[in-house]
Amino acid sequence: MSQAQAVPTVDTNAPAYVKHAKLKAWVQEMVHLCRPDRVYWCDGSQEEYDRLCDEMVASGTLIRLNPKLRPNSFLARSDASDVARVEDCTFICSEKEEEAGPNNNWVAPEEMRWTLKRLFDGCMRGRTLYVVPFSMGPLGSHIAHIGVEISDSPYVAVNMRLMTRMGKKVFEVLGTDGEFVPCMHSVGAPLAPGEKDVAWPCNREQKYIVHFPETREIWSYGSGYGGNALLGKKCFALRIASNMGKEQGWLAEHMLILGVTSPEGQKTYVSAAFPSACGKTNFAMLIPPKAMKGWTVTTVGDDIAWIKPGPDGRFYAINPEAGYFGVAPGTSEESNPNAMAMLRENCIFTNVALTPGGDVWWEGMTKAKPAKLIDWQGKNWTPDCGRKAAHPNSRFTVSASQCPSLDPEWENPDGVPISAFIFGGRRSTAVPLVFEAFNWNYGVYMAATMGSETTAAAAGKIGEVRRDPMAMLPFCGYHMGDYFNHWLQIGHTVGNPPRIFCVNWFRLDEEGNFLWPGFGENMRVLKWMVGRVQGSANAKQTPLGWMPRFEDLDWEGLEGVTRRQFDKLMHVDTELWKQELASHGDLFEKLQERLPKEFILKRELFQLSLWR
Ligand code: GTP
Ligand code: SPV
Ligand code: MN
Repeated sequence: MSQAQAVPTVDTNAPAYVKHAKLKAWVQEMVHLCRPDRVYWCDGSQEEYDRLCDEMVASGTLIRLNPKLRPNSFLARSDASDVARVEDCTFICSEKEEEAGPNNNWVAPEEMRWTLKRLFDGCMRGRTLYVVPFSMGPLGSHIAHIGVEISDSPYVAVNMRLMTRMGKKVFEVLGTDGEFVPCMHSVGAPLAPGEKDVAWPCNREQKYIVHFPETREIWSYGSGYGGNALLGKKCFALRIASNMGKEQGWLAEHMLILGVTSPEGQKTYVSAAFPSACGKTNFAMLIPPKAMKGWTVTTVGDDIAWIKPGPDGRFYAINPEAGYFGVAPGTSEESNPNAMAMLRENCIFTNVALTPGGDVWWEGMTKAKPAKLIDWQGKNWTPDCGRKAAHPNSRFTVSASQCPSLDPEWENPDGVPISAFIFGGRRSTAVPLVFEAFNWNYGVYMAATMGSETTAAAAGKIGEVRRDPMAMLPFCGYHMGDYFNHWLQIGHTVGNPPRIFCVNWFRLDEEGNFLWPGFGENMRVLKWMVGRVQGSANAKQTPLGWMPRFEDLDWEGLEGVTRRQFDKLMHVDTELWKQELASHGDLFEKLQERLPKEFILKRELFQLSLWR
């Protein structure tokens, strides 16, 4: 590494194996702009990972957990102002405002470039600039896309190694002129000479998560947390990739992918979109109840799916990621035993609590609360202190290779064939446990008008119902009306589009308890959906779609849900659905210029069938 220098002439230090002139020129340019003290090119090796972690332990950014309890694992505590995605500070800077749509914040590209220039000017003073090459999708495969993230956060560098295929090999694939998405990231906290760093540098005043869809660039400033900073994830694999998909005829979705195998050995893959912190990781790793002998679920992905029409008239999906950045609270041996096994070693935990023995804890991990903890902000915690020990959006980062239920096809570059799309929100009322859309277009309507209560995954109010089309409201990188049209069209490019289902695990009773046991028991709903796909499960017709009757679900070994409770779970309240439809209307009004005309008609028909 070169010595610290104050003048903007730091050597970019590109290793000899980097042969891409444009990439080297870009790094050079960014070094001149950000003026880091050092430049470091990540090679993705274990040795490098260990060294960066050791350095962060020394600097106070990471705490090494007790190696006996949680080998090779670390805890990071973020700044209290930097705990989740920041949707208000996220921008799609397309040339024309209409292209970004009312679903995105927009600023003219030229104006935003001035802002970014000002923000990034000298922003890495006193820090190391890391060059982090990564592939979304298996390295070198025809479906993969390459990105290079420049970041002044070593925390980002090590997390990217867990979340993506990161390292030296990416440069081999890039060669001298391969395509890559430049991903620029700074925590926005330059250090004055001699200034001592803090454990979690970030910028409390200004955060900007910016996308230029036409030039396929990402610029992120001020935050070190999750989707704000690990730019391969939401910024690239969803916001930029959704633009690629619109142009090239495929889909980039906020979806898990799982395989389900019946006792007869028949395998079905499904993909499910639930908004942030609404159960994707849990569903993707589900372990069926013991009484449902012979059923197994395997995991392809837990957050993002890239889906393309195949030559045989089916959709094929891949998971572009290589790791999971999962919600910690609520994860337990009961709710998600696969995740608990996956988290035994080699993990980075962010904003969870620390036990006196040097292990981690979060709300819901065990029924009994530990007597004493250090909370996510580093303060002493006792069960009666009135505060949460772990932040509600505290997370783990772990390589997919540690997932016990990992599907053998998870890295198949051709993807896995998808037989059903499932959409689910967090709704305490109105929305039944499960129903099946009558056909593709109707299903797209239901997915497009889906509502969900907001969660701690994004900064802002929690528990407010908002329309979150396809669970993509914060992630669709262009006009939502165009996105709906894209969905309608793409279904007709394949001969036999997947069935579309809607689910809701979160309906409450009058006392505020969940009506549905959820987690592993969701297998009962999954079995019914797979049965519908295979033509073996029965249903009745309702205004919302096809619904199972009590006798159409497998209840073997489950005592808790009575016929009366099931009726409550499935009840469609006409008054509440009138309000739902009004809310669909509000969404349509916002998107009217580009809204598929047939949605207007569908809404009217829907209204008529409810009124009847
Ligand atoms: P992102 O990573 O933010 O995109 O979210 P995700 O959809 O992967 O979220 P995750 O699976 O981690 O959801 C976590 C939250 O959902 C926790 O609060 C869980 O307790 C809750 N949850 C997951 N599955 C169920 C379920 O079947 N029933 C109920 N009631 N809660 C669930
Ligand atoms: C989400 O919020 O949907 C996540 C977490 O998956 S983050 O990567 O922070 O966006
Ligand atoms: Mn997500």
